[in-house]
Amino acid sequence: MSTRHQRPAAFGAAAFALAIAISPLAAPPAVATPASTHQVVQVELDASPARSAAAALATKPKPPRDPAKSDVLVNKKYPLVPRKYVPRLTEVPGTGIRLQPPAAKAYRKLVAAARRDGVNIRLTSGYRSYAVQKGLLEKYTRAYGSTYARRIAAKPGSSEHQTGLAIDVGNRNRACALQACFATTKVGKWMAKNAPRHGFILRYPKGMESVTGYAYEPWHFR
Ligand code: DAL
Ligand code: ZN
Repeated sequence: MSTRHQRPAAFGAAAFALAIAISPLAAPPAVATPASTHQVVQVELDASPARSAAAALATKPKPPRDPAKSDVLVNKKYPLVPRKYVPRLTEVPGTGIRLQPPAAKAYRKLVAAARRDGVNIRLTSGYRSYAVQKGLLEKYTRAYGSTYARRIAAKPGSSEHQTGLAIDVGNRNRACALQACFATTKVGKWMAKNAPRHGFILRYPKGMESVTGYAYEPWHFR
C-alpha cells in the first residue's frame, strides 16, 4: 500500500498545512516596526502563501518505520528494520496464535461484538516470524511459481504479520478460507462492515493490487 493510502492522518496534516498556507485567514505579514524596509520585505517573502504552499507540497511525510509503534508502515517498499524484528507478543486465548498485546485486546473485543451479532470468527493467523514467513513464501513459490507467490505472500521481513498487528480471519466451518469468496460469507460480510469500528482495516482491497502490491485478501486485517 502506498504511504498516502496508509497514512490518512499524515496526508491530512499536509493538506491542513497547505490549507493554512493558502488561507486568506493565515497569519498577516509581520508588522513593520523598527525593522528596515529590507527586513520587512524579506519577512513577507518568507511568509508568502505561494512559497509556503510549494514547500508543503515538496515536503513528503516520512513513512513511520519504528517497528515498536502501532503505525509502523510495512509493505514491499518498506520492510521491517531490523528485518528479523520480533515484537512484544501475547497469545490470543484459546487460539495458539500470538499478537501484540494491544492488537490482541482489540481482537478480543471484535470477536465479542461479532458474537453478539451471532457471528463466530475464527482466527487463522496472527504473528508470523521471519522464518515462518520465509517458509510460507517458499511453499507458495514451489506450488504456484514465484510471480504468483509474490502476489499472495510477502517476503520475510516485509509481512504485516511479522509486526504482530495483522490478523487473518475465517468462518468456523472454514467456508471459503483464504479465498476471495470469503467476502461473501457471514464472517466476511461482518468484518467488511464492522472491523473498522474495532480498529482493524482491510489492507488488501479488491482492485487495489497496483497500490498494495498484493491480490485481494478479504480476510486480512491490520
Ligand atoms: N499475505 C500477506 C500479503 C502476507 O504474506 O503478509
Ligand atoms: Zn494475512
